[in-house]
Amino acid sequence: MIAIASVTKTFDSGKGRRHLALADISLDIAAGEFVSILGPSGCGKSTLLYIVGGFIPPSTGAVLVKGARVSGPSPDRGPVFQEFALFPWKTVLGNVMYGLERQGVRRAQATARARELIAMVHLGGYESFYPKELSGGMKQRVAIARTLAYGPSILLMDEPFGSLDAHTRTRLQNDLLEIWERDRKTVMFVTHSVEEAVFLSDRIVMMSRSPGRVKDVIAIDLPRPRSRADLLLDRRFQDYVVNIERLMEEPAPEPRR
Ligand SMILES: Nc1ncnc2c1ncn2[C@@H]1O[C@H](COP(=O)(O)OP(=O)(O)OP(=O)(O)O)[C@@H](O)[C@H]1O
Ligand SMILES: [Mg+2]
Repeated sequence: MIAIASVTKTFDSGKGRRHLALADISLDIAAGEFVSILGPSGCGKSTLLYIVGGFIPPSTGAVLVKGARVSGPSPDRGPVFQEFALFPWKTVLGNVMYGLERQGVRRAQATARARELIAMVHLGGYESFYPKELSGGMKQRVAIARTLAYGPSILLMDEPFGSLDAHTRTRLQNDLLEIWERDRKTVMFVTHSVEEAVFLSDRIVMMSRSPGRVKDVIAIDLPRPRSRADLLLDRRFQDYVVNIERLMEEPAPEPRR
């Protein structure tokens, strides 16, 4: 589904200074796979997601989606980024319908579909609320519903639950998994939480400190559907979390030249 082929990214930081943010990233992601990306702050996780989303171009290398080279954003690759705020002047329903209407879906149909999605993220009853009347977790749910409305086959999620309290975060993780189990979208999910990554993912890509490289790819062989309560008691889950946390503490090996 997604082929990231020898992608590098160099940013021009002015006055002739250049910063190598991503060094030779190669990664293949299968259709329906849930892949998380873990790595220290500044290692290029967001940059990688923006490149896959087509929001910024790679300096060298390419990203192929379904065999076609990514050259810009597409509704088939839905971003859930914290900085992509909701429209404050639109209600919950209006925010979720926006994408459907832009795709030319008729109003009655768009309303029905948007209501379905709002129910799916457990916000039924809040259709006429404005973003400022919602909590952080509720806004994040609206953002997810709005992205799902486009019907993307790929979800690009950049720390979507990072700013939420632990309880809300757990609920949204469960909701996301439920949605994912239902229609098996391909997900790239950036997080700083090892537990969150293990709970959600089929594979975890560990990146090394700047310039970002793929340090390790770990398959998470835990049964699905997953329940957080069961997993917390599961020895295999605990082992994954502890081992990955240890790996993250290890300094990256010096790159060979
Ligand atoms: N537009 C830009 N111009 C210049 N440098 C940039 C730009 N965007 C990112 N960088 C640099 O690229 C590197 C990677 O940034 P990025 O935001 O991808 O890291 P990250 O892994 O997402 O970090 P965090 O975990 O803190 O979100 C950083 O050193 C950053 O300073
Ligand atoms: Mg980031």
